[in-house]
Amino acid sequence: MKTEFKKNILCIGAGYVGGPTMAMIAYKCPQYKVTTVDINPVRIAEWNSDILPVYEPGLDEIVKDVRGKNLFFSTDIEKGIKESDIIFVSVNTPTKTFGVGAGMAADLQYWEKTARKILECSETPKIIVEKSTLPVKTALAMERILTLNNNKVHFDVLSNPEFLAEGTAVKDLENPDRVLVGSRQTESGLAAREELVEIYANWVPEERIVKSDIWSSELSKLVANAFLAQRISSINSISALCEKTDADIANVTRAIGFDSRIGSKFLNASIGFGGSCFKKDILNLVYLCRHYGLNEVADYWESVVKINDYQKGRFVFNMLTAMFNTLAEKKICLFGFAFKADTGDTRESPAIFIAKRLIEEKARLTITDPKALKNAKRDLHGVDGKVSYIEDPYEAAAGSHAIAIITEWNIYKELDFEKIYRSMIKPAFIFDGRNVINHKRLFEIGFNVFPTGKPALTHFE
Ligand code: UDX
Ligand code: UDX
Repeated sequence: MKTEFKKNILCIGAGYVGGPTMAMIAYKCPQYKVTTVDINPVRIAEWNSDILPVYEPGLDEIVKDVRGKNLFFSTDIEKGIKESDIIFVSVNTPTKTFGVGAGMAADLQYWEKTARKILECSETPKIIVEKSTLPVKTALAMERILTLNNNKVHFDVLSNPEFLAEGTAVKDLENPDRVLVGSRQTESGLAAREELVEIYANWVPEERIVKSDIWSSELSKLVANAFLAQRISSINSISALCEKTDADIANVTRAIGFDSRIGSKFLNASIGFGGSCFKKDILNLVYLCRHYGLNEVADYWESVVKINDYQKGRFVFNMLTAMFNTLAEKKICLFGFAFKADTGDTRESPAIFIAKRLIEEKARLTITDPKALKNAKRDLHGVDGKVSYIEDPYEAAAGSHAIAIITEWNIYKELDFEKIYRSMIKPAFIFDGRNVINHKRLFEIGFNVFPTGKPALTHFE
């Protein structure tokens, strides 16, 4: 029996954002048919297999529940466009690597190609939803492309940025702080906005669905990420000062976090933020500000990225000075390579910079990570140095001079560090870029411990 669906939803781009978001919509809205397409056939095959291309706690169960019922993954983009009423666009918008704005502006080539494809294949009116993070005013460019057919087919463009964080994508999608939907303030724009709101209203309380004009919605995504990243750079800058003054970043964070205006979340000092979004989105914001002649504003936001680079550099510098100013031929074990815990993603991971710098110092590296070794190998492919990849942390640490904790995986908190200490070259060092282990206890075992933003605990005079 053929099931009649209320509407056909399409998503172009089956990545970290598109895949989980569509899975959640299909799961919560059985009345909609949801199809996700991608130009990459391998990705689509993976979405159709038992091993999904994206690791997210809880995602497998949801996909298995609805795949083949009202959730489909396909490479047939043309057919998908033809049959759809609502199209989410979630193709990647990386930082440009060439030409004007290289290293700063968003590369919109996939975005524009997708818009042209939509125009070419559409026979019925459609709502186009921007899911990818984009520079403010991109919807205008989208509209201009979509009206190249002299309005034979009507399109409404909406902005609906995604705020999910990796590792908690399912939780964030199921119970979002807010869903933001921006539209043109025209009759047709507002009607399109209501259609999208209706989808989310299947599971998101009405008061958490924020309606806005389209430009504010586009800009809000960049600003949200810039503010989050700014918090990390702010606390990381203070961690440097703590290390010089014997203050403890954990105590400072606790003290300021009690102020309800500041709040306690997202204040963990670290080796620096990574991930596909923060740096890209800030640079995008900086580029926009410069474009509009707002150089002071651009400089302000750019400093967030500068402090992040400084923090990564400082971590390696601290290792070098602590280990008697030479790392040559020393074996260093990196605990973690993912940009944060609970994901295999290594995009913009501080681990990449740190690994390369350590190799420049002629250290021998052993990298361990429960989910990210495949990506780590790809990231360091072609790097001239001695690197090995070992999943078991005990085996990875054996025979090393130092351990550097890069990712805050829970498993590292529960390791038998006495056993690890016994297997290492002495004096044994541990550099905790995430402050996740019990530093006092490690010191008592015999390690020389270098936390982030706290006094070092060493056995030297
Ligand atoms: C993407 C954007 O990079 C980000 O700006 C936005 O916030 C959300 O969407 P993500 O899902 O993490 O983020 O990207 P990625 O995992 O690279 O997925 C993008 C997918 O789009 C890839 O699978 C790629 O094959 C696909 N794609 C790209 C197309 O289907 N068509 C294209 O023309 C280009
Ligand atoms: C981020 C935003 O949180 C999300 O809303 C947006 O949609 C995409 O970008 P994500 O990059 O997946 O999500 O991870 P997030 O949890 O924000 O962490 C980003 C980086 O900051 C990680 O490297 C993390 O380790 C680091 N971080 C985070 C810190 O160093 N300290 C903190 O207190 C929090």
